[in-house]
Amino acid sequence: MEDAYIVQGGNVLKGEVVLSGAKNLALKTVIASLLFESKVTLTNVPKINDVHELLHLIKKLGATVEQTGNRVTIDPSTLRSSKPDLLHASKLRASFLLFAPLLHKFKECRIPNPGGCRIGMRPIDRIISGMEALGVKTEYQSEDGYYDAKLTQSPKGSYKFSKPTHTGTELLIMLGALGENEIKIENSALEPEIDELILFLNESGAKITKDGTTIAIQGVKSLQQTKPFRIFSDRNEAVTFATLAVATKGSVEIHNLNPDQLLTFNELMIKAGVKVEIKSDSILYEYVGTLKPICITTEPHPGFMTDWQPNWAVLMTQSSGVSTVHETVFENRFSYVDELLKLGARIEYVENSVNDKEAIYHFNTDDSKVLKQKIQITGGAPLHSAAIKIADLRAGATLLIAALIATGESVVTNASILERGYENIVDKISGLGGKLKRV
Ligand code: EPZ
Repeated sequence: MEDAYIVQGGNVLKGEVVLSGAKNLALKTVIASLLFESKVTLTNVPKINDVHELLHLIKKLGATVEQTGNRVTIDPSTLRSSKPDLLHASKLRASFLLFAPLLHKFKECRIPNPGGCRIGMRPIDRIISGMEALGVKTEYQSEDGYYDAKLTQSPKGSYKFSKPTHTGTELLIMLGALGENEIKIENSALEPEIDELILFLNESGAKITKDGTTIAIQGVKSLQQTKPFRIFSDRNEAVTFATLAVATKGSVEIHNLNPDQLLTFNELMIKAGVKVEIKSDSILYEYVGTLKPICITTEPHPGFMTDWQPNWAVLMTQSSGVSTVHETVFENRFSYVDELLKLGARIEYVENSVNDKEAIYHFNTDDSKVLKQKIQITGGAPLHSAAIKIADLRAGATLLIAALIATGESVVTNASILERGYENIVDKISGLGGKLKRV
């Protein structure tokens, strides 16, 4: 296999899509399942590379995993190792979440410094200080890149994040769920995956409440599942298909999607002149005329998600004017720009006049570094075919959209990076009339 897509562009895409389960929830519930006493069943688990890697990783730790289609059953009672291997763990940002179940199971563990997409430095400094505030002892071993961690007492106390972190909030929730003490987390992140993780744990006996950005947890002795847990649909996938269809001047009806998770996105699609019709269990996105240029600034949920900005950028190449994209969550999320230039797009980096960087940016700012956090897109330039390369997951979806807009036949390489987070993407796009094949 060449690890690439051959794409015939220039077609108007129309039709319906049924979303897969959400990557950024499935990964967390699989890991949280290791906190349980006995078997846990998850349904609607997306068959994507990241989930595949994670299931492989926990199997190597001794967990028993049965998978039938999108149904996964995990038996954590056979866990025997407290040290995930670097090869698989380094492929997955979420692997550091294993701190919580392995500390509860073995009282100590070794976790490698996490890997993941090349979209920023992605340190875990706030997360380590959060664990230490709740009583975990940690030590970083630079010689092998592992963190040693010890849990000498049941987690307790409170911690306030300096800046919210999605997976950081989820880790402290998992850490606090078991034990006999009270825990309080402040300035936590608000992503819907976090609410769903809390629901998953509370359905199995946990005592977690959330009020805005404050989470209170009363540790419990054990967790027991009473019924299978369904992974909700992937709103990032929804954004990809909505921008794909509209960018080709078509339409798509997206099924089993929670519109509350896309309020900001839908608002801006309507502002851009897209018809957005919310139905009982689906949303219709339709191109109904020239797209207006709409500027966006990314923010943590409920703002405009950083995962959506690469898709938005390629949509704006089809607008009737000049727009900007300002990225505030990750410091290196424009890997797609040079590739879109190869297809004839008109994009340039522009000054982002930010006085208080520390207040605006959600990553740790360093005044010695020159930040390139803003691009300007001049719409209307026709896209033509080219050979382009995927560098990270959401950039991958963006380049596939661009190749489907462009006239002629394009080659998009590093397909497996995109398949880290998208299930059956070739079938779904072909179902809308897209012409592409995986080679
Ligand atoms: C999660 O990443 C998602 N990944 C990301 O999705 C998503 O973009 C992000 O949340 C925002 O919603 C998963 O759930 C597996 P953060 P996460 O911690 O938790 C910095 C995708 O495309 N930071 O909220 O890693 C961090 O580097 C992926 O599906 C520190 O500096 O995001 C980033 O700049 C990409 N120190 C910012 O904070 C820390 O200790 C926000 O990161 C923790 C985070």
